[in-house]
Amino acid sequence: MVLKLVKIGLPLFVVAFLAWVIFAPPQRVGYAPEQPIAYSHALHAGKHGMDCQYCHTGVAVNKKAGVPSLNICMNCHAYGTMGYSGGKLSPEIAKLKKYYEEKKSPEWIRVHNLPDHVRFAHAPHIKALLKEGAPTKEACVPCHGQVEQMVVVSQVMPLNMGFCVNCHRDYRNAHEYRNRGVAVSCNFCHY
Ligand code: HEC
Ligand code: HEC
Ligand code: HEC
Ligand code: HEC
Ligand code: HEC
Repeated sequence: MVLKLVKIGLPLFVVAFLAWVIFAPPQRVGYAPEQPIAYSHALHAGKHGMDCQYCHTGVAVNKKAGVPSLNICMNCHAYGTMGYSGGKLSPEIAKLKKYYEEKKSPEWIRVHNLPDHVRFAHAPHIKALLKEGAPTKEACVPCHGQVEQMVVVSQVMPLNMGFCVNCHRDYRNAHEYRNRGVAVSCNFCHY
């Protein structure tokens, strides 16, 4: 009797549990915290067409894309009248210069964040997703949306398990990726 209950109950439990994991509602979509300096991707990467890798130098070679140090900002903002209008320094650039002179880094608030039990690295994704000759930003769109149009960065994709697994399944089934080792087994993405 007990054994029979376990026999029926356990698979039911496993199925329900997996369904919950896969369809768990995306909690962070729309998260767009205000940052310590009002840095705008729409202005820099959009209007001025800066490449993502100018600042996110790790994205195609490391696990982390990384957030740039203020030295990179000062390549432009240390000089001239950039950030002045009508002879007055913009308050946001004044903040930037103050951080820089005090050798402090702004505490940027993380927007995208996976739990620690998930394995994720940028480099292999960018290498697979970036088509030759295409601008870097195209390889970011599947997971971050059109960041070059964002004044404030916002999470637009769920980045939950179903989201990751769906893309892996499509790639695994796609002709050119069939033997590339993109997998959907649990230990592929979990420690
Ligand atoms: C001039 C430097 C610069 C360029 C160019 C740039 N970024 Fe950023 N990026 C930053 C800074 C600074 C932050 C942290 C502040 C923020 O979130 O706005 C950031 C944050 C981000 C985040 C959020 C990180 C998190 O906390 O989860 C994403 C995603 C991102 N950038 C993607 C891109 C993409 C895609 C491009 C190219 C279209 C790009 N960035 C171009 C400087 C830059
Ligand atoms: C390649 C050059 C370049 C780099 C690098 C750069 N910026 Fe800018 N930034 C600009 C330009 C051009 C403008 C527009 C200036 C204007 O309209 O007067 C601007 C404008 C800004 C403004 C808006 C100023 C205002 O009027 O309020 C902020 C804030 C800013 N940048 C912050 C940053 C930060 C933070 C970084 C580093 C993560 C950075 N910038 C890196 C070129 C750059
Ligand atoms: C396959 C999905 C995917 C792609 C493609 C992708 N990212 Fe990410 N990105 C993530 C995830 C997931 C995180 C959160 C990682 C974590 O919490 O460890 C993240 C975090 C970031 C961060 C925060 C800092 C960091 O390194 O963790 C930045 C900046 C960023 N991505 C920039 C980019 C840029 C620029 C591109 C395109 C060149 C890009 N990403 C492409 C999924 C992706
Ligand atoms: C847009 C499609 C896409 C999405 C979304 C995606 N991946 Fe991938 N992922 C790939 C491809 C393609 C590869 C194979 C790269 C290669 O050729 O080695 C890969 C490889 C991997 C690898 C193995 C890379 C290595 O270290 O060798 C891990 C781990 C991984 N993905 C985790 C994740 C996680 C976690 C998420 C969700 C946050 C995710 N992926 C979302 C397409 C995607
Ligand atoms: C392609 C990558 C990928 C694969 C393959 C994968 N997972 Fe996940 N898993 C994730 C991500 C990403 C999260 C974090 C989801 C979130 O934060 O919403 C997650 C979360 C979880 C959680 C925690 C649920 C929660 O809501 O916190 C469990 C349990 C889990 N996975 C089990 C599994 C099992 C069992 C398998 C094999 C059948 C598996 N995973 C395969 C990416 C993956």
